[in-house]
Amino acid sequence: MAQTNPNGPTLQHLALMVRDIDASHRFYTEAVGFEQCGKIGADTPTGQRGIDFRFYRGADDRHHDIALVQIPDPSVFPPASLEWEMIENKLGINHFAICYPSREDFLERLKVLREMGIEFRQRGNHGMTHSVYVADPDGNGVEFLYELPESVWIDNVNAALNYWEPMDTQSEEALDDPTEYKSFAPS
Ligand SMILES: [Fe+2]
Repeated sequence: MAQTNPNGPTLQHLALMVRDIDASHRFYTEAVGFEQCGKIGADTPTGQRGIDFRFYRGADDRHHDIALVQIPDPSVFPPASLEWEMIENKLGINHFAICYPSREDFLERLKVLREMGIEFRQRGNHGMTHSVYVADPDGNGVEFLYELPESVWIDNVNAALNYWEPMDTQSEEALDDPTEYKSFAPS
């Protein structure tokens, strides 16, 4: 599992089909902190009737991090379950992650989630990140994280990936964040 190509491909953006693009817009702007930076709709050059495609980013040196696409007929789907779990019997995306540039930004964001009444489904020290998992309005798992210092995990990525230390999700302690990071030695 050694890294052989330091200039290899990266995952770039994600496009989500959504049942209520206004609800998803609120989640990805107010809860996540993205800004809308573009759209394709009936009134844009490449748009057509019935199309509502919106683009979002977390910083202005990127063109988009995520796109939301309004599905034509939401009525054929049952209401979304917001009871996201890491292990579920389903196909497709388990979760995707939004990375905040610092511990302080991450903690600010947790306060916003709490104020918006968005449930922390899981929270923990994941060896290389501190992470909180929530469900977006369609029930997709979204991980909010900040990265621990590279020195913590770089020598043994697999050991860090295997590490999970649960943290409180309910009380006021769910907004605390310990900084005694465990380091992972080469195996
Ligand atoms: Fe993750």
